[in-house]
Amino acid sequence: MSGVPKASSSGQPRAWSPDQLVQIEQILSRYPTKKAAVMPLLWLTQETWGWIDLESMRLIARTLELPPSHVHSVASFYTMFKKQPTGKYFIQVCHTLSCALVGANKIIAHLEKTLQVDEHGNSADGLFTILRVECLAACGSAPMAQINDDFYERLTPESVDQIIAAFRAGKVPPQPYVSEWVHPVAGARA
Ligand code: FES
Repeated sequence: MSGVPKASSSGQPRAWSPDQLVQIEQILSRYPTKKAAVMPLLWLTQETWGWIDLESMRLIARTLELPPSHVHSVASFYTMFKKQPTGKYFIQVCHTLSCALVGANKIIAHLEKTLQVDEHGNSADGLFTILRVECLAACGSAPMAQINDDFYERLTPESVDQIIAAFRAGKVPPQPYVSEWVHPVAGARA
């Protein structure tokens, strides 16, 4: 699985629809400067086209009268902004210290083996994309992952199997998802 994906071109011309232009006017009215609206427009782009290509970054830059490099730098900093098309289920696995200490790498290796992902983290059936990310602020429930908009905490290889099976069956596991977990050193539930 690769690290943070680089931004790439879709080869598609991008333009705002009339409805989006209305939304953008509303967004801009909430901020003192156009520059402050970069992240809301990145979200709007991702919701519209599923990911944020270089053409969309240039469109945002023109709209907000900013250098394209500024929009690119903001999009690149945050892993929540997709710089490549992803599968239906976007699995962001935290590999920062608290999660690493209790098995994040084991979870990632299990996901890679189970889903047979390519070097970009994509499964062949197009359903899943795995990405290593930095701390998602759920350190007390490590190891954890964010799948689309939901957190899955205290993961084990077994709970990962259950989650993947649920998605493959077209179901979303009930939230909040905190699986049973045994401390790797103390051997008891934290
Ligand atoms: S270190 Fe993994 S959520 Fe904070």
